[in-house]
Amino acid sequence: MSLNVQPEIEALLSERREFPPPAEIARNANAQADIYARAERDFEGFWAEEAEQRLDWYRKWDQVLEWDLPYAKWFVGGRLNVAYNCVDRHVERGLGSKVAYHWEGEPGDTRTITYADLQREVNKCANALQALGVKTGDRVGIYMPMIPELPIAMLACAKIGAPHVVVFGGFSSDALQGRMIDSEAVALITADGGWRNGKVLDLKGAADVAVANAPTIKNVLVVRRTGHDVSMTPGRDHWWHDFVERQSEQCDPVPLDSEHLLYLLHTSGTTAKPKGVMHTTGGYLVGIASTHHYIFDIKPDSVYWCAADIGWVTGHSYIVYGPLANATTSILYEGAPQYPAPDRWWSIIEKYKVNVLYCAPTAIRAFMKQGEEWPAKHDMSSLRVLGTVGEPINPEAWLWYHKYIGGGRCPVVDTWWQTETGMILITPLPGITTLRPGSATRPFPGVGAKVVDADGKDVPDGQGGGYLVLTRPWPAMLRGIYKDPDRYVNTYWSRFPGYYFAGDGCKVDADGYFWLLGRVDDVMKVSGHRISTIEVESALVDHPAVAEAAVVGRSDPITGEAIFAFVILKASVEPSDTLAAELREHVARKIGAIARPKMVMFTPELPKTRSGKIMRRLLRDIAEHRPLGDVTTLADSGIVETIRDKAQSSEAEQLI
Ligand code: WTA
Repeated sequence: MSLNVQPEIEALLSERREFPPPAEIARNANAQADIYARAERDFEGFWAEEAEQRLDWYRKWDQVLEWDLPYAKWFVGGRLNVAYNCVDRHVERGLGSKVAYHWEGEPGDTRTITYADLQREVNKCANALQALGVKTGDRVGIYMPMIPELPIAMLACAKIGAPHVVVFGGFSSDALQGRMIDSEAVALITADGGWRNGKVLDLKGAADVAVANAPTIKNVLVVRRTGHDVSMTPGRDHWWHDFVERQSEQCDPVPLDSEHLLYLLHTSGTTAKPKGVMHTTGGYLVGIASTHHYIFDIKPDSVYWCAADIGWVTGHSYIVYGPLANATTSILYEGAPQYPAPDRWWSIIEKYKVNVLYCAPTAIRAFMKQGEEWPAKHDMSSLRVLGTVGEPINPEAWLWYHKYIGGGRCPVVDTWWQTETGMILITPLPGITTLRPGSATRPFPGVGAKVVDADGKDVPDGQGGGYLVLTRPWPAMLRGIYKDPDRYVNTYWSRFPGYYFAGDGCKVDADGYFWLLGRVDDVMKVSGHRISTIEVESALVDHPAVAEAAVVGRSDPITGEAIFAFVILKASVEPSDTLAAELREHVARKIGAIARPKMVMFTPELPKTRSGKIMRRLLRDIAEHRPLGDVTTLADSGIVETIRDKAQSSEAEQLI
C-alpha cells in the first residue's frame, strides 16, 4: 500500500478559512459542548443513555457492550422491533398525521405519506410477506426505484424480522443475481420500473433474468410504477396493488433480539466478489438515531432531505431508519438531480421548505458546473444545515455549497463513514464545531479514531499522513461479512492488530482536525459510489476480446474519481474505437452504468513486477499524468514509457 498524500494535504492545510457555528444554531443545538467530555468519560454509558432516550425496548438489555475483538454485541439481551420504533410508536403517541415522506416522482407526480399511512402500508406488506411464507430470519431481496414502497418494503421486513437485502436499482441483473444467491433470499420485491432522466429503468426485466438463476427465490412482489408492459410469471409473480392491497392493516411487530440481523448490504471490497455487510437491530438503530439527531440538529418540525439513493448505506441509515426513528418529516425524490432542468433540487427545497440537505460532493460539483444562476432562482432561506457524504469534498465545492446553497448561513457537516460503520463516525456538530472546508473535523462523541503509520505506530497530530483506524467499538458497526468470517477478520482487523482498518488515508492537523485523503486500497469512489477496481477488471476479462485488464481510479473534477481501464486484447483482435465503446458497455451491462469506464486504453503489455503482479501505482501515475514513481522492481522498465506515450495520444481521442 502506498500513500501519496503530501501534495493534496498541503493544499488542504493552506485552506485557513474557518467558519464558527452561527449563534442562533449554537444556542438551540441538540448537541451542546459538554457532549464530547460526557461521552469520553464513559462511552458505554453514553450509548446506553442514547439507547434509553431515543428508542423503545420490549426488554431492557443486561449488558451494554460485549467486546470480544473483533466481535461486538451491543445491548445484549435487549429486545425491540425496528419498525415499531420507526412507525407504530409515533402513531400511538399522536403523530399519525405527521408527514413521514413528501415523495416526488421524477415526472412531477407526488404523494404524501403520513406516519399513519406508513403504518397501514407497512402492515399490509408485512402480512403479504407472511402470506408468501416468509418467516423471521428469512432474507428478502429488494430491487426498487426511489418510491414510497421501497422504505415500506424494508420496514415490513423489519417488522417480521426478515433481513432485507436491498440492491441499488442502477445495478445490473448479474449484480442482483449474485447478491440474491449469496444471501439465499426467499423472495424479491421489485417494480415494473422507475423513472430516471425521463427514461424507464427496466427493473422487472433485470429481475426476471436474475431470479431465473437464483433458485431460492420463490415469490416476487411487483409494484406498478411506470405502467409499461412487463411479463409476470404465474404462481411466482404477484402485483403489489393486488396482493398487498388485500391484506389486513393490522400486524403485530415481532420482538427481536438486539443482535438479530436487520439487513445485509453488499459493498465492494478489494476482490471481485462484493461483501455482504451485516447490520443488526439494537446497536444499529441507536447509532443512527443518535447521529441523525445531533449531526443534522433535527427538531420536531424539521423538513429533512437526504438526496442519496436508498440502495446505498446512506439511504438505509439516513433516509429510512434514522429519520423515521426520530419521527422526522423527509423528502423522497425518485429521479435524476438535474431532470428536467438543473434546478430540480432547488425547486424541491423551495416547495417543501427543506431545512436540512444531505448529499454527495459529486452532486455539488455537478451543480457548480451549471452555475449559481440555477439556485438563485429559488428561495432557499428555509435551509439551516447542509451535509456531505461519500467522498472527500474539495474546499472549492465546500465553499460554493456554503455560499450559493446555504446562503452563507448554514453549517456544512462533512460526514465520514462507511457501509461497514453503519453510522457517521467523523463529523462536525453544527452548533459546536468551527468548520474548516475540506475537513470532516473530529470523531463523533464516544467514537475512537486515530491515524497510524505503516507499522501501526501513532502519527502525532500535525505530523503527516497515515492510515485511519478506529480504536473502539461503536453501536452500528458491522457484525461481520455474511458467510465469510475470515474475510471479516482479514479485511478489517488484521492490518493493525486491535484496530479497525478503514482503508482510508487520513491526516490529523495540529488542532486535531481529521482530513480524509481517499482510499488506500483497490476501491474507487466514482460519483460517491463504491466500486472495486477488480470487479471492473473481471467484467472486462469476461468479454471474449479481452486477454487481461487493469483498472485504476483517476481524479476527476466532477465525479471525484473516474474509471480508467488498461486493456490487453487477445492476439487475434484488433483494437478500435468501436471495440473500446463495446467494452465500456459490456462493463455497464455486467455491473451497472455507474461502473462504465470513462476511458479504455488498449496496450500490448502491463507493468508487472518480476513475480507477475500488476503495478497499479504506476498505472495510476500514468493516468494522472504524474511523474512515474519507482520503477526498479519492474520486470521490463521500458513498458511504462510505451504505455504512457500511448495513453497521451489515445486519451486525446477519447476524452471529451
Ligand atoms: C469515503 C458511504 C472523505 C471513504 C457512506 C470511505 C469519505 C468510503 C467521506 C465508504 C467523507 C465517505 N470524506 N471520504 N466525508 N465519506 N468517504 O461504504 O473512502 O459507500 O471509506 O459509504 O467513502 O464508502 P461507502
